[in-house]
Amino acid sequence: MFLTRSARLYRQSNNLLPLSSRALGVQSHTYATSSDAASLLEYGGNVTKGLGRVTEGIMTSGKGSYVEYHDGRKMLDFTCGIGVTNLGHCHPKVSKAAADQCMNIVHAQCSIAFHEPYLRLVQKLLPIMPHASLDSFFLWNSGSEAVEGAIKMARTVTKRQNIICMQGAYHGRTFGAMAVTKSKTIYSQGVAPLMPGVFSIPFPFWHQLGGTPDLAESEQVKQCLYQLDILLAQQTAPADTAAIILEPVLGEGGYVPAPTAFLEGLRAVCDKHGILLIVDEVQSGFGRTGKFFSIEYSGVRPDILIMAKGLANGFPLSAVVSRKEITDKLAPGSMGGTYAGNAVSCAAACAVVDAMHEENILENVNARSKELFSALKDIKTAHPEHILDVRGRGLMVAVEFATPSGPGAAHDAVAARTGAPAQMASRVAKKCIERGMIILTTSVYEVVRFIPPLNISGTDLKKGADIFREAIEEVIREG
Ligand SMILES: Cc1ncc(COP(=O)(O)O)c(C=O)c1O
Repeated sequence: MFLTRSARLYRQSNNLLPLSSRALGVQSHTYATSSDAASLLEYGGNVTKGLGRVTEGIMTSGKGSYVEYHDGRKMLDFTCGIGVTNLGHCHPKVSKAAADQCMNIVHAQCSIAFHEPYLRLVQKLLPIMPHASLDSFFLWNSGSEAVEGAIKMARTVTKRQNIICMQGAYHGRTFGAMAVTKSKTIYSQGVAPLMPGVFSIPFPFWHQLGGTPDLAESEQVKQCLYQLDILLAQQTAPADTAAIILEPVLGEGGYVPAPTAFLEGLRAVCDKHGILLIVDEVQSGFGRTGKFFSIEYSGVRPDILIMAKGLANGFPLSAVVSRKEITDKLAPGSMGGTYAGNAVSCAAACAVVDAMHEENILENVNARSKELFSALKDIKTAHPEHILDVRGRGLMVAVEFATPSGPGAAHDAVAARTGAPAQMASRVAKKCIERGMIILTTSVYEVVRFIPPLNISGTDLKKGADIFREAIEEVIREG
């Protein structure tokens, strides 16, 4: 029988047997198992080159802090799928809530009717909001979409166009989100024009101020707030400025917590000029830093709070939270989206909030955070010439290597006196993967980031820290 190429591929990919075999009663099966997953690998060539990947092979299952690959490799996961599966892979309560919801209603479109998990989630989120004024919710799918929604909201209600963001910020890959993303050029290179009306100031991070890791925090804050003042005087008038957007812990920019004084300074400027403060907790939120939201460490009130990632532990869900006084100004129909606030994702998120409370997740984050910082600082003490900085908050932690290259190196006070091997961060991350732990780099600097599950055991955390130390020592030996 003649089959077109696409029909052949379809049959292959679904393991459909030839018609004659089916007629003979031979059973076909439609799901890839580990043994036949390998045969799917060739289709990787049909996946866009625009996607990067840090490990080889097919991830076939995940449980708790571990994932398994088609070839039997079991890996300790210190990425949580980039800060998403914060309660570990396939948390039983979360997976069950999603599965149950699947048998009830999957798609109760948000512009057609409310569904129960949506409203139940709002009920559960209200008491954990970092400020009581945050009482109006819009649920979407991804972090980028939530950023778009927040910008749209800010422009609509202020009737102003311009947005101020932070150097080093990452807010996503859609056009508005890309415009306020300043962490790496790769995200927007060659695709201009981006959303206009975007300005940036430095974030209090010693690299951005040409300093060293010991540059006083107060000095960094002073310089950055000064830059904001002159930006508002020289480039974007307050009357044209809708919002300031920032991550309370700079993520893709290098895992740098924003000092309280900086956040307070931004709040004061916003209050003075009627500018809205948008706090992007897509990565730092939902317990990642030891409180539900990282902004809580400062006590500063956001006008708009964005969350996603850990919110539904792997099911696509994001939220834009503001106060009714603001969102009541939006015209019905101006916000929405086919899949926005999907019922299965919302059911999963409800289970996440319950598990966070019932399993004392924040306590675990704070206990494990102390252990992780202590282990990493010991490694830094043992290798002072190779490690420049250990920083972060909760279980959003980074190590920066002292590789004397990278942006601004010619002017960098640190570069002149450091001597770590080239590309140390990516080499260390690769060695960790070879030793059975997945870990990511971040930023344009030599930084490795730790994003382990928030409920990780002390034993697994130590295992990860040991693997990291061995990887560093091997890279140093190799030079
Ligand atoms: C702080 C922050 N904002 C926004 C985003 C974009 O989220 P998404 O990838 O879900 O679009 C990310 C993703 O890493 C993020 O870390």
